[in-house]
Amino acid sequence: MNKQISVLPGDGIGPEVTAQAQKALEAVAKKFGHDFKFIPVIGGAAAIDAVGDPMPKETIDTCKQTDAVLFGAFGSPKYDNNPNAKVRPEQGLLKIRKELGLYANIRPIFTFDALIHKSPIKKEIVEGADFTVVRELTGGMYFGMKGRTEDGNTAFDTNIYSVYEIERILKTAFEIAGQRRKKLLVVDKANVLATSRLWRETARRMEKDYPSISVDYMFVDNASMKLITTPKDFDVIVTENTFGDILTDEASVITGSMGLMPSASVGTYTSLFEPIHGSYPQAAGKNIANPLAAILSAAMLLETSFNMNAEAKAIKDAVNLSLAQQIRTEDIAEGKAYSTTEVGEFIVNEILK
Ligand code: IPM
Ligand code: MN
Repeated sequence: MNKQISVLPGDGIGPEVTAQAQKALEAVAKKFGHDFKFIPVIGGAAAIDAVGDPMPKETIDTCKQTDAVLFGAFGSPKYDNNPNAKVRPEQGLLKIRKELGLYANIRPIFTFDALIHKSPIKKEIVEGADFTVVRELTGGMYFGMKGRTEDGNTAFDTNIYSVYEIERILKTAFEIAGQRRKKLLVVDKANVLATSRLWRETARRMEKDYPSISVDYMFVDNASMKLITTPKDFDVIVTENTFGDILTDEASVITGSMGLMPSASVGTYTSLFEPIHGSYPQAAGKNIANPLAAILSAAMLLETSFNMNAEAKAIKDAVNLSLAQQIRTEDIAEGKAYSTTEVGEFIVNEILK
């Protein structure tokens, strides 16, 4: 198949890990006889430095015209530590999410046999944990009205959701649950928040349309605890933007290392795939970052956007082998640590075998 992929490496370790993911996709194309064309685009701090805009229109246009977006990370300490900065890399991320209509962020959480002992949680609690968080990504507090009073002494962020926004993300979550163990958990704060009550009301109404799915409800504070104490109880969790942001960071570490978890953002236009670890500026330029989350994001891209399941499996098998054979970056190494590029090359060679 002929496919075009926008490559948006971004900041920090983004370019290094994205390069490995692109290499893995090139290897897949060669092995399976596809033609993937990669189109580089800019965004984040890198684009602020280059053109003064964290999300140039050309980037959005190119992403919309291609079949998938392979994304690294946005964020730079240069802007984090400057509360007066007028433009921030993160604005670029929110803008591309909004412009591409990426309302569903899908973050699967699973364990690797070879790394179970790396989890901060006891093996018997975490072994076999396998769930997916569906995070609403274009609404809520991230996009609601925000500001400061004139005297500067009061600030506000508005959490806002419409039935339309809630229904479409719940539909995605119901469908994902249907392909898995058919258990959907709606996480909210309906004992306090009006938006959560609307979520719950909407979900209750939609339950009737999905009779094969068992639906449960849980408050977010309780869910944050259960993620640690009984992670195996979960199948599909659906929640709003802010809760999803926090819960997925929490969930990503229970299985060993945050450097391993991929994600997909899907919606109205082209889907985007990214590791959930962020730009990790401390490791940038050192060739030490773990490329596996980015490489697994490439596998998710193949499955989700191109329906290429055998191709995705070739990547996942190679990743598992690299872990089993201790070809690992320093964050998860148990002996010699390999560099980002060495791990990437091992994966490429395995795919090509
Ligand atoms: C994420 C990140 C972003 C978010 C930041 C960088 C804006 O933390 O993708 O989870 O909060 O959504
Ligand atoms: Mn986050």
